[in-house]
Amino acid sequence: PTGELRDQLARPLHDLRISVTDRCNFRCVYCMPKEVFDKDYNYLPHSSLLSFEEITRIAKIFIAHGVEKIRLTGGEPLLRKNIEKLVGMLAELKTVHGKPLDLTLTTNGSLLARKAQSLKDAGLQRVTVSLDALDDAVFKRMNDVDFAVADVLHGVDVAHSVGLGPVKVNMVVKGGMNDQEILPMARYFKGTPTILRFIEYMDVGASNGWKLDEVLPSAEVARRIGAELPLEPIAANYSGETAERWRYLDGGGEIGLISSVTQAFCQNCTRARLSTEGKLYTCLFATRGHDLRALLRNGSSDAQIAGAVSHLWQARGDRYSELRSSQTAGLGERQKVEMSYIGG
Ligand code: GTP
Ligand code: 5AD
Ligand code: SF4
Ligand code: SF4
Repeated sequence: PTGELRDQLARPLHDLRISVTDRCNFRCVYCMPKEVFDKDYNYLPHSSLLSFEEITRIAKIFIAHGVEKIRLTGGEPLLRKNIEKLVGMLAELKTVHGKPLDLTLTTNGSLLARKAQSLKDAGLQRVTVSLDALDDAVFKRMNDVDFAVADVLHGVDVAHSVGLGPVKVNMVVKGGMNDQEILPMARYFKGTPTILRFIEYMDVGASNGWKLDEVLPSAEVARRIGAELPLEPIAANYSGETAERWRYLDGGGEIGLISSVTQAFCQNCTRARLSTEGKLYTCLFATRGHDLRALLRNGSSDAQIAGAVSHLWQARGDRYSELRSSQTAGLGERQKVEMSYIGG
């Protein structure tokens, strides 16, 4: 079955974000804090993970429903064994309009220098790299595993040199922890092909101890940068883009502001998420997913799985970030799933 699916708020299904592992070699304080993700943490056993064949089968079904963009996430996707093989399998798929997929991946950059060439050869189009500071001491406090800035920057350079650019760099801003790095990061990437994006610290998952007063509003980020390096807003690349784009007036390129807390963008949210073990989530802040792996493994046909997916999408009414901002007390009582599991 093809044709445009629409959810309860008339939003189509355009993006599929696939988490390929719930593990990571970083312990970012806002995502996998050490106190929770310690050596006793129960990660998924290998038998629970979707195989590459299962992921590809699901991807095809979503593509038939209109998905044009697939992002591999995690956890750290480059930790998944033979990830290039999965990239190769997905790169062969075409959208319903016969175009290649927009196939991309979000990584912490630690293994990127080593893997960029093989990912490119397998058919990956671009990468997004997380980096929260330029200062080593600050970055190490954020990643909590003593990982150095220079190694990530080297990964970004190699990604560009093999043709995986323009690379986007994501910086999560946690007020009082790395906000003094906003300007150094802006200065560093200005005038380079890298597009730097600032992300408001979100209340995703249940373990990062999120507090509203640690969110530095994007408006403040724009104000601080603009005071030294004048900026103006520019039009979105596509409807539903997470980042609001701003360009430097002197032609030094653009930055992005991702304001999930102060300016929710649920209205145009076209994203579905597939967890590491094959559960479908229709919102980053969902409390429950739908078990597609059970269907894959009980002999269901593609048509049956496709039917389940369209049913779920058509029933979708999620708009968590919008609801959060309309409620002063927040929605803190929900048992939300971790971002490392559902996929950032
Ligand atoms: P491109 O514009 O194609 O690069 O993709 P993108 O904007 O989806 O970027 P990316 O996947 O790098 O997402 C950046 C960050 O935005 C994520 O790491 C999340 O922190 C946040 N984000 C992405 N999608 C959502 C979403 O659906 N809801 C919320 N609340 N945040 C999101
Ligand atoms: N708030 C905002 N972004 C987050 N990420 C993970 N946890 C959070 C959070 N609490 C995002 C970052 C990182 C990506 C893998 O996930 O963008 O770059
Ligand atoms: Fe790992 Fe990315 Fe989460 Fe940091 S934000 S712990 S790098 S998955
Ligand atoms: Fe989409 Fe949910 Fe994020 Fe809103 S909060 S943009 S509905 S994933």
